[in-house]
Order: sequence, then C-alpha cells, then structure tokens
Amino acid sequence: MKIITIVGARPQFIKAAPVSRALRQQHHEILVHTGQHYDALMSDIFFDELEIPHPDYNLAVGSASHGAQTGAMLARLEELFLSEQPDIVLVYGDTNSTLAGALAAAKLNLPVAHVEAGLRSFNRRMPEEINRLLTDHVAQWLFCPTQTAMSNLRAEGITKGISLVGDVMVDALKYNLQLAQRHSTILQQLGLVMDNYYLATIHRPVNTDEPTRLAILLNTLGKLDAPVILPIHPRTAQAIETAHLSMTNSLRLIPPVGYLDMLTLEANACRILTDSGGVQKEAYLFGVPCITLREETEWVETVNNGWNQLVGADPTALQEAVHQPRPVGTPPIIFGDGTASQQIVNILRDG
Ligand code: UD1
Ligand code: UDP
Repeated sequence: MKIITIVGARPQFIKAAPVSRALRQQHHEILVHTGQHYDALMSDIFFDELEIPHPDYNLAVGSASHGAQTGAMLARLEELFLSEQPDIVLVYGDTNSTLAGALAAAKLNLPVAHVEAGLRSFNRRMPEEINRLLTDHVAQWLFCPTQTAMSNLRAEGITKGISLVGDVMVDALKYNLQLAQRHSTILQQLGLVMDNYYLATIHRPVNTDEPTRLAILLNTLGKLDAPVILPIHPRTAQAIETAHLSMTNSLRLIPPVGYLDMLTLEANACRILTDSGGVQKEAYLFGVPCITLREETEWVETVNNGWNQLVGADPTALQEAVHQPRPVGTPPIIFGDGTASQQIVNILRDG
C-alpha cells in the first residue's frame, strides 16, 4: 500500500520514527514534513538522531496564525494527495499539521489513520483539543494509546476502527534508551549530578501567552532548591524576550536539546515539571515524579496512579508538589509494551 505520513512538529518526528521503521517493511511510505517546526534543534536533529528517512516533501509552511498555517498546509497537501493518490494518510497527535493532513485527506475521500487517537483534555480553549476532536471524527483507523482514550472515543459515538495499541512513544523510548546511555554527555556538559536537579519544559500557550503567568512560573522555578534545567522552546523564548522577563537563581535556560539528551535529562532528574504531553509520559515511563504545569491533562492515568500532580501555575501548589515523597515502587504499565508501531502496521495491512 502507498501510505502518506504527515509530520511537522517535534513530537511527531519522535512518534513517526518507530512507526516509519515498521511501516517500510511492508508498505511504500511517502513522508511529508509540513515545515511547521523548522529550526535545526526543533527538526533536523530528530531526523538525524532517530534515523528518520529524509522527507519526500517539505512544504515549508513555517510559522503563522492557526488559520493561516493550517490553511497553507491544507492547500499544499490537497495538491500533493491528488498527484500521489495514496491509499492511506497517516497523521499523528494533535497539532495543526495533524488537522491539515486529516482534513485534506477526508475532503478527497482518502482514508485517514490517526495515531494517538482519543486523547481529550475537555478544554476546548486548547488548539490541540480542536485538532484532535476533528481528526478523530474523520479518521477510519483510530489508534489509541490508553484505555481512557478508547472510552473517550466511545463516549463520542466513535466505535468503528478503534484499536488499543499502546503508545508509540514507548516504542521510541525503548529503541533509543541504550543509545542515549551510550552517547549522551549532557549531564557532564551541564555539570549535573544524578537525582539532584529538576528538569522543566514550558511551551503551552496557556503558560506562554500571558506574561504574568509565565513570570510567576519562572520565578517559582527559580526558587527551587536545586538547579532547574529548562530547554527552551522557541515559543517560550520569544515570550520571555517580548515580556523582558529575567531568570532567577536556580533556573538555567538551555537551547532545545535532541531526543537522546532529553531522555538522559529526564531519566536522571529528581522531578520533572512540564506542560508537555510527551514529557509527562516519558516522566512516567522513567518513574520520575511529574508536576504538570497545567490545570488538566489528557494522561489522567498518570495522575490517578500518583506519579503526576496538576498544579497549574500556582506557586504554593508547585512548591508543595516538588516536596511530596515519591510514590512507592514503579509505575504500573498503562502505555502498552512497546509494540504499538508493529500493531499499527499489522492492522493497516489487514484493512
Ligand atoms: C506546536 C503544537 C503543539 C505541540 C508543539 C510541540 C499546534 C497548534 N501546536 O506548538 O500542540 O505541543 O508544537 O512542540 O500545532 N517557532 C520557531 N521555530 C520553529 C518552530 C516554531 O521559532 O522551528 C516559533 C515561532 O515563533 C512560532 C512559535 O514558535 O510562531 C510557535 O510554533 P507553532 O508550531 O505554531 O506552535 P508550538 O507552540 O510549537
Ligand atoms: N523533547 C526533546 N527536546 C527538548 C524538549 C522535548 O527531545 O528540548 C522531546 C521530549 O522528550 C518528547 C517530545 O519532545 O519526546 C515532546 O515534545 P513537545 O514537548 O515539544 O510537545 P508535546 O508532547 O507537548 O506535544
């Protein structure tokens, strides 16, 4: 079968890597990069490290408002689908690239496969929530990472084409962990001691687009009792610059890091503070307690199991969460066994 895969943003490169590897054993994959993320540290580094094939097409849409960015992708994807005539269009996650791929395909009556289907925050102010809802409702194959995702789809009346396969980010992590252990020198480079620093990431519009909230978060992180390493997302870097925010005490901003360095930073942190979806999951997989800088999460199991706490941008809640004792033992398996990619490929093969 001829399958067109759409990627565009950092987490999609990571998710697509294991699926693409499995897919190419059985199918003809055409890889399309929308160009939503384009900085070398947001894009190229992942293609190199994860050995993702060079994209067959790069639409180079770049940054813009939601409508303009999604619209530019739609127009170019439609043209491309018409000329390539794929059997399936495969999309990942919940970004504007996901929605554009799904919508362009659906309008041409091309079947859509959605990896990471069924996630919901129930907060429609998040751009991602709109992207996921719409994508799920036009998809023929809906690959769910968790049982909750399956239930969310059923609650919306979607019962056909849904499969619980686990999370492809487990596949990516398992494949790359040894490589990270062998090759990453990030702890030495930053002079960090295992289990004696915090790792933080911030990029959600809810945290970046309101300068007061961003300032509160950064100040609170700066007052923690060990170094706080914050690989800075370009959206956040821009917000900090625009609002003229300064960094305090413990907080150390570094450029975005590659996947192998990120795995190393996550695995060895004493706590992870984040508003990222992927980083919440990886914290759980490493058994590192996570403090989520949001009011809600799609990964509710991580909270229910005691490994993730939602603190929003509340300084007191954040400080308290950091000092909560770690849960006993290791986190129960909720994201599958690392075979999601192969399961996806087999299900697509069997129609
Ligand atoms: C996007 C996704 C979000 C995902 C995140 C992963 C949407 C609506 N959002 O958010 O779901 O969690 O990617 O990281 O699709 N920029 C650069 N260089 C780049 C990319 C972006 O400087 O390579 C800057 C631009 O100023 C841009 C801003 O970052 O306007 C935001 O980028 P954008 O892709 O629109 O959204 P993200 O915040 O990255
Ligand atoms: N990540 C990375 N380098 C960084 C920050 C994140 O490699 O500097 C990885 C992280 O390990 C995870 C993914 O990027 O696999 C998460 O992407 P992001 O936080 O940008 O998006 P989200 O998951 O929130 O959509």
